[in-house]
Amino acid sequence: MEVKITDDGSITLFSEQFNQHYHSKFGAKTESDRVFLELGFTYTAEKFENIKIFEMGFGTGLNAWLSAVAAEKSKINTSYFGIEKYPVKSEIHEKFPVDLRLFHQSTWDEEVQINDFFVFKKQKISLEEVDLRNDFNLIYYDAFAPEAQPELWTEEVFKKLFDALVLGGILTTYCSKAYVQRNLKAAGFSIEKHLGPPHKREVLRAIKQI
Ligand SMILES: C[S@@+](CC[C@H](N)C(=O)[O-])C[C@H]1O[C@@H](n2cnc3c(N)ncnc32)[C@H](O)[C@@H]1O
Repeated sequence: MEVKITDDGSITLFSEQFNQHYHSKFGAKTESDRVFLELGFTYTAEKFENIKIFEMGFGTGLNAWLSAVAAEKSKINTSYFGIEKYPVKSEIHEKFPVDLRLFHQSTWDEEVQINDFFVFKKQKISLEEVDLRNDFNLIYYDAFAPEAQPELWTEEVFKKLFDALVLGGILTTYCSKAYVQRNLKAAGFSIEKHLGPPHKREVLRAIKQI
């Protein structure tokens, strides 16, 4: 596992196991801000009073951290549930910004109040095994790319995520490959294509229509 600085100065990791970066090398924070915060959190906050978020692939915790900041700023009560099959080792945490370390120091399987508007829980489990409730408003789908983990981008997986959302709930992801769109549609989602972060023409917002 290697720590790298991306073009906007924020850090990412490189996984040798999957031969994948955790974020865009053109800007980890810029990518999360666009794909998960703007297209996900901000949009969902306009539709629902309180938000329940499920994150597939907690990783460095960047999405959780940015969401906690956004929840506090917008005063939206948010509960966040992130899963991770391969937790980042503790010696790497020291290289993370202090606020991000908080998410790694919290105990697995326990709810932690991060700020007045943000409750956080993480679980060390795979997407295949996790039992999901059916009351999420928003899913951050942040798996490694289909080239590395095709088994995480199937219709079956997306059906599980579709069932985990309330009506009107949404899923955002950075990957807009044609077969990912097809599998999302086959699982029941409507697809919107949006402009991505730098060097990414298009990203997806998938909606469970009312
Ligand atoms: C693209 S990275 C996530 C980046 C993360 N959201 C962040 O902000 O740092 C993908 C993550 O999915 C995790 N992962 C891989 N296979 C998984 C599985 N089957 N179930 C749960 N997590 C998995 C990886 O360990 C990695 O942390």
